[in-house]
Order: sequence, then C-alpha cells, then structure tokens
Amino acid sequence: MDKFKISGGHPLSGEVPVSGSKNSALPALAACLLTDEPVTLKRIPQARELQTREMPVAHTGAKILDRNGTVEVEARDLERPEAPYDVVKTMRASSLVLGPLVARTGRARVSMPGGCAIGARPINLHVSALEHLGAEIQQSHGYVEAVALDGLRGGEVHFDRITVTGTEDVLMAAVLARGETVIRNAAREPEVTDLADLLTKMGARIEGAGTSIIRVEGVERLHGTEHAIIPDRIEAGTFLLAAAITRGDLMVSDCNPEHVGALIMKMRQAGAEINEDGDSIRVRCPNSAKAVDVTTEEYPGFATDLQAQYMAWMTVARGISFVTETIFENRFMHAPELTRMGANIRIEGRQAIIAGEEQLMGTQVIASDLRASASLVLAALIAKGESTIHRVYHIDRGYEQIERKLAQVGAKIERVQ
Ligand code: EPU
Repeated sequence: MDKFKISGGHPLSGEVPVSGSKNSALPALAACLLTDEPVTLKRIPQARELQTREMPVAHTGAKILDRNGTVEVEARDLERPEAPYDVVKTMRASSLVLGPLVARTGRARVSMPGGCAIGARPINLHVSALEHLGAEIQQSHGYVEAVALDGLRGGEVHFDRITVTGTEDVLMAAVLARGETVIRNAAREPEVTDLADLLTKMGARIEGAGTSIIRVEGVERLHGTEHAIIPDRIEAGTFLLAAAITRGDLMVSDCNPEHVGALIMKMRQAGAEINEDGDSIRVRCPNSAKAVDVTTEEYPGFATDLQAQYMAWMTVARGISFVTETIFENRFMHAPELTRMGANIRIEGRQAIIAGEEQLMGTQVIASDLRASASLVLAALIAKGESTIHRVYHIDRGYEQIERKLAQVGAKIERVQ
C-alpha cells in the first residue's frame, strides 16, 4: 500500500490547474448508457474511482475507449443490464447505473452499495423516485432489481431530503420516460447541472436544472454527442485551503470560482486574501487565520466534501471554531488523526469544536476516507518535521495525482510504495 511522506513548513506558490470533476464524471459515464450512439466525454480525471466506474459500464456490454482523459463510450448493445457485486463492491456510486439501465432496457439489476466510512449511505430515495416513474423494484440478496417492461412513464417525484446522486439517477431515468416528470426538492449541485447539460446535448428536454424543481419532458431516444466535464470544485477548494494553511501565494487555475463561493466567503472572513479572475483564483494568506465557524449544507452552502480540509486549517487558526456536519452522520474520522498531530479538537455529536494551536507536529497517520485523507495531507504540509500518511489509496480514488500537483507548487511530498 502506498504512503505519502510529507515534510511540513513550505508555503505553496505558483500555479496549480484543476482537473475535471470526479463527481460529474461518474454520472456522465452512466448517462452514456442511455443511447446506442457514441458519446465522447472530455476532461475525465485520472482518479481511481473513475477507472472502477468504467467497469460496470463496460460490464453491460458498452465499448469504452479511454485516451488520456477523453473517454468514448458506445453502448450499442446492452447485453447485460446489471452491475454485479464483484464489479461494484468498492464503489459507492453503483446506484447511478440503475436509472439509465431501466430507462433504456426496461430492466436493471444492481448490487446495492454498502455503507462507507462517512455514513450508512442508503439508496431508499433513489428506489422510491424510480417507483414513481413506474419501475417495479424488488430488493433481495443484496441486489436491487428494477423492471419496467413497457417503459417508464413520467411522474411526480418529491425527495424527502436532498440527494445528489438520487437526483441524477431519476433525471437519467426521466429523460426516456413517456410524458412529463417533475422532480421537487432536487439537488442544485453543479454536477447535476453538468449532467443536465450533457443530457440536453444528447437530445433530452430538461428545464430547471440547478434549481430545486426540475421538469423533464421524456423523448423517445437520445443520440451521441461530445461533452467536457466541469472543473472539480472540491479539488479547487482543497488547493485554496492548502495555500491558506501553508500561508502561501497560489493561483488555482482552470476552475469555476462561483462553484466554491461559500468556501471563498469563509476564507475571506478568516483572513485569506482571495482574488477571482475569470477561471482562476489567487489566494494569499500571509498571516495565521482567524477562527471562523462553518456548517455544511447542500449546494450552494458549504460543501461537506470540504469540511475535513477546512477543519485542518482551523486547527492552526487563532481562536475557537465550531464545524458542524449536517449531511453525513460520521464524517469526523479525520479529527482523531489530526489530534495525533497536536490539534485540539472535541467532537460533540455532529459538531467539532476546534481550539487553534500554534503548531502541529509531524507523525504517522492513517487516511480513513477520501476527503479525510486530503485534510491529513493539508495538516502535514504545515506540521513540524515529517509526517507519513498511510492508506493513500483513499485519496487516489478522487484526486488526480495530488502529490505531483502539490510538489510542483513547492510542497515537499513524495509517494512511497
Ligand atoms: N440519503 C438517504 N437516502 C438516499 C440517498 C441519500 O438517506 O437514498 C442521505 C445520505 O445518507 C446522506 C444525505 O442523504 O446523509 C445526502 O446524500 P447524497 O445522496 O446527496 O450523497 P451522494 O449522492 O451519495 C454525493 C457525492 C459525495 C458528496 C455528497 C453530498 C457523488 C458520487 N458523491 O454523494 O461525494 O459528499 O453527494 O454532497 O457525487 C466525495 O466526493 O468525497 C463524496 C463523498
């Protein structure tokens, strides 16, 4: 298993480009199953989760050609509208093929995702939304089986709570359903809008993506197209925080500043100087941060996927901050590891109370999930001495060569095999 060795105390400077969004690329690959014509997706990040994501798509019989970030998918014959356990056992987002498969073939059999380090992550909302479009769904032996032999029909879906992949799943199903579908309390994340843009290019009729009510007028068939995935807002946010924690001066390029608006606001309050210029953001942070509270929320609120990295910054801020996690029930796994590095954090239910310290100390820590690993990398960048981060396969799932990008802007980080 690979580890990172990081020697702390080097401010980041220079320019770092952002890759395509992992969480946009995942539904985009699934959406290719909705047409028998080739779809070309550009800017697919070279993250492990995408490589494993291609597996269930390929398993259905679709042909995939992956050329350095440009992926062509041709789902002419879907011989196997299923995602068996062996193919999806390490993936959380396996449910994303459920909607497209049942919409295109009238049948889907998908192994249910297990829980993961950050929470139980059930898919009950995906299931009931698809039932509202006429799918008959059975869950047994660890599988979800959806059947709609006469095709799906449009319907009213009202999500009890906002779900990102649930919204994406039902959106992909609704585009081929007969008649109109209205999705209420839909997720407004940029990844949902990106998916709607791709589907529209494929011939779908969608209104309201990016708002909490999405209307879809079903069409008979979709066609091939070409689409570039949006920049990864979580990677952009991770770099902004990496610059701030090291008190550096960094240009984060090829991103969409609007997508990290909530983070930028908090970072300015905490004392970072941030200038947006087109698709770049310059961040400077000559002094230590002031403690500022955050509460995670659905978009456009503060992203849960940046909570761990923000907490790393607050461990060396002046004063006491409260970080409240409202999306996932167990997303503070980084806190005990940060504490081993000298941070002062107390967890009370869904709230972390952080008293800023002068200095963190390098040591050995274990990454528990994707964003927790990123927060440990950030902490190690300013810790005194050397840190070793174990189980970096978690970070490889979602970031494209993070150590190479950080090293290019001055971090002393190396991968040890
Ligand atoms: N939920 C249910 N039932 C469902 C679906 C969700 O109770 O059927 C609950 C979840 O357990 C959670 C909340 O609703 O408490 C929100 O979950 P959501 O469905 O929005 O999360 P997701 O779609 O599974 C995506 C991202 C996550 C990101 C969340 C929240 C992808 C592939 N994953 O997950 O990304 O944290 O939205 O923004 O898009 C990451 O990249 O590290 C990551 C975990």
